[in-house]
Amino acid sequence: MKITIKNLRENDCVCDALILPVIEGGSAEDLSLGTSVPALLKNCLPSEFHGKKNELLLLPSPAGIKSKKLLLVGLGRKEELTPEIIRQAGGKALPHLRSTGARKVALAAAPLFDLKLSPVPFIEGALLGLYTYDRYKKEKETKAIAEITVLTRPSRVLAAEIGMITKLSGAVCFARDLVNTPSNDMTPTHMARAAAALRTKKMTVSVIEKKEAEKLGMWSYLSVSKGSDEPPKFIVLDYRGSKKSPVVLIGKSVTFDSGGISIKPSDGLEKMKYDMAGGAAVLGVMKAVSDLGLPLHVVGILPATENLPGGNATRPGDVVRAITGTTIEIINTDAEGRMTLADAIGYAQRFRPAAIIDIATLTGACAIALGSDAIAMMGTDRSLIETMRQAAETTNEKVWEMPLFEEYREYLKSDIADIKNVGGRSGSLPTSARFLREFVGETPWVHLDIAGTAWTEKERPYTPRGASGIGLRLLFETIRRMA
Ligand code: BES
Ligand code: MN
Ligand code: ZN
Repeated sequence: MKITIKNLRENDCVCDALILPVIEGGSAEDLSLGTSVPALLKNCLPSEFHGKKNELLLLPSPAGIKSKKLLLVGLGRKEELTPEIIRQAGGKALPHLRSTGARKVALAAAPLFDLKLSPVPFIEGALLGLYTYDRYKKEKETKAIAEITVLTRPSRVLAAEIGMITKLSGAVCFARDLVNTPSNDMTPTHMARAAAALRTKKMTVSVIEKKEAEKLGMWSYLSVSKGSDEPPKFIVLDYRGSKKSPVVLIGKSVTFDSGGISIKPSDGLEKMKYDMAGGAAVLGVMKAVSDLGLPLHVVGILPATENLPGGNATRPGDVVRAITGTTIEIINTDAEGRMTLADAIGYAQRFRPAAIIDIATLTGACAIALGSDAIAMMGTDRSLIETMRQAAETTNEKVWEMPLFEEYREYLKSDIADIKNVGGRSGSLPTSARFLREFVGETPWVHLDIAGTAWTEKERPYTPRGASGIGLRLLFETIRRMA
């Protein structure tokens, strides 16, 4: 799809649909501030359209407007406008236009500029909302938007912002693809291949195979892969856009989580293909940073493995030693994510990182506590947590801080090892983070639990059903702010 900027009067734009953002409760003139359309619209504005948030109305164009159709997109009340509302408007409008068979559409940007808002979030919402996943369908979706024209005076700043958001949204769609792909086609080996495809002059991609992981002493991570015939792949990406010490991003990459010997109930088990959504988000961030050539040093780590039961699988009660030397008693083989992350965090220390951020579909308790609308955040560094909170305001990938009280360490006391991998049902969310904390040392660290948010059952304004790609835009915005 092409995105262009043209300095045309709205009335003169020849296209399938002209998109006109309108605020709630104004007169015809107010509704379409600053465009050449209102005079024509005045006599035909239907009374049932109020301009409420996410309200859409597709009309045949009144005489004098060259576009075939006119799409009114409600923005809600003027006083309550935010970039997120514009993003949602884009996410609602474009899929609707696509469903009507429109190919070339144009956005009247003047009403947004008049409201001191940028059209960029609209484009972002459009690109994210148009995402589809039809890899396995015989009948592919043939309707597609070919071009969006932003009607305004072209400027280099706007063109650069649109270029940026196009790449970032592309990375989100790339991550969604990885997550939506079923586990038989998204094994650790496939993830390693997807990572290797991101290799450039500035980005090295290496894979630590099982043998080498054994030599390094990653027995915590390796314990998860023992029940599976799929070889584990510990994937490391190093993007050197600056000489500073790196931010290390670690993404949980369990390509299928059956629970292992502590096997999960079969109801909904098919969803456990999304247990690598953290890894997909990290890969997506690496792709975005690299595509944009940002002047940052970022390392991505994906400790990829399957978690299956099998003749050689790890048993509850087994004790393993992590790369840091800490021994872990495995009470529950379904608490496998933290086992993989323990070694990834331990391994990350060799980069002398400025910060470590991990992102993981770690606990069902996270989804219970915060539902599908917020990421749980816990960490050791106030300033990093604050940066993340601000980044979340910008991206609307919401975070909510949960406690990391020292008391939770008690829950994880083992009789025979340094720590055990679960502390019982109560406090399952904070104790999972407290477990990770054990491997972090002094490095500023934040943990994000995306178990509730990585998959969406209901369609959202710019997130179709399935993999949401959550966390990617948040991480991207965070590391950009840190630089
Ligand atoms: N991958 C799951 C967490 C999960 C659950 C993600 C639901 C998405 C939706 C994780 O590996 C897991 O099984 N966690 C256990 C931990 C427990 C055994 C302490 C859980 O939360 O039940
Ligand atoms: Mn599990
Ligand atoms: Zn898991």
